[in-house]
Amino acid sequence: MSVILAIESSCDDTSVAICNNGKITANVIANQTIHQNYGGVIPELASRVHQQNIVPAVQQALIDAKVTKQDINAVAFTRGPGLLGSLLVGVSFAKSFALALNIPLISVNHMHAHILAHFIDDPKPNFPFLCLTVSGGHTQIVLVKDYFDMEIVGETLDDAAGEAFDKTAKILQLPYPGGPLIDKHAQKGNPLAYKFAEPQIADLNFSFSGFKTSILYFIRKQEKENPNFIAENLNDICASVQHSIIQILMKKLKKAAVEYNIKEIAIAGGVSANSGLRNTLQNMAVELDWKVYIPAFQYCTDNAGMIAIAGYQKFLKQDFVGQEVSPMARMEF
Ligand code: KG4
Ligand code: ZN
Repeated sequence: MSVILAIESSCDDTSVAICNNGKITANVIANQTIHQNYGGVIPELASRVHQQNIVPAVQQALIDAKVTKQDINAVAFTRGPGLLGSLLVGVSFAKSFALALNIPLISVNHMHAHILAHFIDDPKPNFPFLCLTVSGGHTQIVLVKDYFDMEIVGETLDDAAGEAFDKTAKILQLPYPGGPLIDKHAQKGNPLAYKFAEPQIADLNFSFSGFKTSILYFIRKQEKENPNFIAENLNDICASVQHSIIQILMKKLKKAAVEYNIKEIAIAGGVSANSGLRNTLQNMAVELDWKVYIPAFQYCTDNAGMIAIAGYQKFLKQDFVGQEVSPMARMEF
């Protein structure tokens, strides 16, 4: 029997989940809207808001899961990677909670958890599988051999795919986080309206910083000829940018599938909520005879459900950490 309380506070969402014998019975996500005023996450504000949100989020999770504090057998928390001030709130809370109830602590790597979110619902992937992890801070192709036996076989050399979405949105004067808004406008636009230079990067790696600059120059040039260019063509611009990002991601994912001779393919991380990416992957499944795994929306962007399921796997192995544990802004994969 195991009831695990999980805390996620690596960036700007305070999330608390409960895993009851391998099933997620609560997944509370308190979004921080304050950052919209600044066009990006302000670390100092994020940690302050985590501090305000964490106890109400825990109380709500206990209510949702119909359990009491005394029913909890272990506390799992995100140790890193992430914003140090944000992580500190979650880690300190988890340590205090575990100390007060005299229960074990489980340390979880945020990037492992994004991938292990695939073990929340059915169908679950079979090992080994390849996972394209695309978030605001990471873009990786991971060879997943077992729950905690993972190898990064390709990654971005500069910006992440989520940053490419968010920075493009900023150029287009859309509010933060721009990814979901680009997705929304893209659904009404022509993906082939504009073409952007595709980065030429070796192996299974990615680069998005030049791509972002090429979008900036393209928009500036168009605006010189027509100051209303963005407003008049927003849907087509979003659709074309999104299409290009998906093409860049898919090219390397296909290459990895051939190199590793693997047809079990998953996506994870915030950008895996993108409707264009999800549809493209479904089409690939038919075209290339892949078995694809796409997480439910609530488990794509940052959430404690994924920390809880990763914590559950560690609980089964009795893989605990001591009270001396501290957060890590950068954490070894
Ligand atoms: O995994 P996540 O919630 O946080 C990190 O660990 O970074 O990912 C956040 C990223 C942001 O860049 C956000 O714009 C992007 O995921 N995102 C999307 C969509 N939903 C979230 N990007 C494109 N389309 C979406 N529908
Ligand atoms: Zn994340």
